Amino acid sequence: MDLPKKVEIIEVGPRDGLQNEADFIPTEKKIELINALNKTGIRRMEATSFVHPVYVPQMKDAKEVLEGMEQDPSIQYMALIPNEKGYERAIENGVRALSLVVGASDSFNLKNVKMTREESINKFNSVVEKAKENGIFLRYNIATSFWCPYEGKVDSELVLDMVKRIDRSGVDEIVICDTIGKANPAQVFDLFSRIFEELQPQAMITAHFHDTYGLAQANVVAALQTGVTRFDTSIGGLGGCPFALGAAGNVATEDVVFMLHEMGIDTGIDLFSLHSCIEVVKPLTNRDLTGHYHKINVNQPQM
Ligand code: COA
Ligand code: ZN
Repeated sequence: MDLPKKVEIIEVGPRDGLQNEADFIPTEKKIELINALNKTGIRRMEATSFVHPVYVPQMKDAKEVLEGMEQDPSIQYMALIPNEKGYERAIENGVRALSLVVGASDSFNLKNVKMTREESINKFNSVVEKAKENGIFLRYNIATSFWCPYEGKVDSELVLDMVKRIDRSGVDEIVICDTIGKANPAQVFDLFSRIFEELQPQAMITAHFHDTYGLAQANVVAALQTGVTRFDTSIGGLGGCPFALGAAGNVATEDVVFMLHEMGIDTGIDLFSLHSCIEVVKPLTNRDLTGHYHKINVNQPQM
């Protein structure tokens, strides 16, 4: 199998992982989780989001989280923003790396940020310009790149066109998101192959999978086959979007790291230290963790 030697894991647990939890998680617990993740070898992380506190109350303490957490200078901390107001709030709070989000499907985007896809893209054009002038790192998430919870299958031509337009705007990274976790490996292979045909091979393309149907790890392998070397994952497999009902959590960080290491691929992450993060995450949710690796007793020899 043709595989890369190294893969980058981008931890989205503190944002995507926690945003869907119904009960408010105390700020100090969010900080404890980020501080634990800081010690694992993870080098990039979505720490929070600057969204409307009424629509996503779990993220209302973005400012306090950023102020309270230990900021390791070797780690890039990103905040998700849905619009210009989010940009202003993030910059005021010292954020230097932003995650923009637009849904490929109009129905999802309207539910998520109350704008059509084109309205969002147009609004973000000025954000991108401003951010570039200020030397801010930009990742651009294309949500519902495969399936929409309201419209069904999303046209890959449409996604490809978005990728090309977003790439031309000069952002640093484009994230292809299976927001509802319904993509299959063949779909993943086809879309990423086509993206790499269109863009320069050095383009920063990241895959973001949720595990609703248990296909996320298979999708990671399919994406690896096309040349993807960056994956968003969430500690403990927490996650989901409040505006994509029924979607399960992100693929679990520890499961992906375990699989990649078993395949001889370096992630720079210490698998053992992810356990202490899982211990922090477990009591924060009423749900069972969806990942697998956390069930293994690491103190017993594994044959
Ligand atoms: N953060 C905080 N407040 C915001 C905001 C932001 N990013 N964007 C807008 N607001 C405020 C405005 O200042 C305005 O306040 P006012 O009534 O005191 O004047 C009010 O919200 C309405 O502004 P408007 O632009 O009309 O927002 P909206 O009601 O259409 O909501 C979003 C749009 C994008 C703010 C909202 O849908 C949202 O926060 N979505 C986030 C979705 C999300 O996080 N999804 C999961 C991750 S993909
Ligand atoms: Zn997601």
